[in-house]
Amino acid sequence: MSYFCDKYTIVEKTTLAAGIFSITVKCPEMAKAAEVGQFANITAEGYTLRRPISICGIDKEAGTLRFVFEVRGKGTEVISRANVGDTLDILGPLGNGFKLPQGRKIIAVGGGIGVPPLLGIAKECASDCTAVLGFRSYDRIILDKEFEKYGANVAVCTDDGTVGFNGLVTVPLENTLKNVGADLVCACGPEPMIKAVVAVCDKMNVPCQVSLEQRMGCGVGACVVCSCMTVRNGEEYYARVCKDGPVFDSKEVKFNG
Ligand SMILES: Cc1cc2nc3c(=O)[nH]c(=O)nc-3n(C[C@H](O)[C@H](O)[C@H](O)COP(=O)(O)OP(=O)(O)OC[C@H]3O[C@@H](n4cnc5c(N)ncnc54)[C@H](O)[C@@H]3O)c2cc1C
Ligand code: FES
Repeated sequence: MSYFCDKYTIVEKTTLAAGIFSITVKCPEMAKAAEVGQFANITAEGYTLRRPISICGIDKEAGTLRFVFEVRGKGTEVISRANVGDTLDILGPLGNGFKLPQGRKIIAVGGGIGVPPLLGIAKECASDCTAVLGFRSYDRIILDKEFEKYGANVAVCTDDGTVGFNGLVTVPLENTLKNVGADLVCACGPEPMIKAVVAVCDKMNVPCQVSLEQRMGCGVGACVVCSCMTVRNGEEYYARVCKDGPVFDSKEVKFNG
């Protein structure tokens, strides 16, 4: 797997919600190599460790990658101050993305800032994609219209009921599986949401791929900071989320608790 590292110019920047930014960079080689569900490691000036951010949009023709991120701490705050014309030092594309079967029905289930890496599924699968997107409240909703623009069927859920279904993503997920069915579920979001999605998929006997988040050091498989317990062919082993993931078959992941 080849990755690239350089300073890339920001060609577009927008604010999607308070503290949530969309940044598009011109990086032709990286865009050409990128796949849906991979991530990149972005340098925050003044900090040694890069920050892992998922690839939200890939435009191979324009040679650009898009990242959507929320300011969580000092590093993402520094990155959020970069503007169009500035450069970001980026290493990518990293990890293994989603394995998307062609012409099959896919349900993408995202929670909060776990939604961005799923947008590429809608771009690739159009009306074969149903997106079930969960947010805390109406003012945290991002990217729902962009999923629709690509032709996906979109169900928005909010914890407080201010928009869409009032409750957890698992309810529309289970209803969609019962009423329409799906060949694959892809999930990204907080661990409790992922665990609940996997439980529904196990119950309904539908394959599920999950994108995991883990604190990272190198991002390229060298430091094992990002280890998580997995099972393959009945054998338990520590996988590196950065290199073996971040996307795993849910059957391989041993969740805590
Ligand atoms: C594979 C992957 C993809 C991600 N994609 C996105 C995305 O598309 N959009 C987005 O907003 N966020 C994403 N995150 C989370 C993002 O990396 C963290 O929010 C960010 O690193 C926080 O950095 P900070 O300096 O602002 O926060 P701080 O809390 O100050 O960070 C301190 C250290 O902890 C690490 N850290 C803190 N929180 C996380 C976390 N949740 N995951 C991994 N490392 C963390 C930081 O990288 C840094 O090294 C992703 C994480 C992973 C592992
Ligand atoms: S972050 Fe270093 S091995 Fe994964």
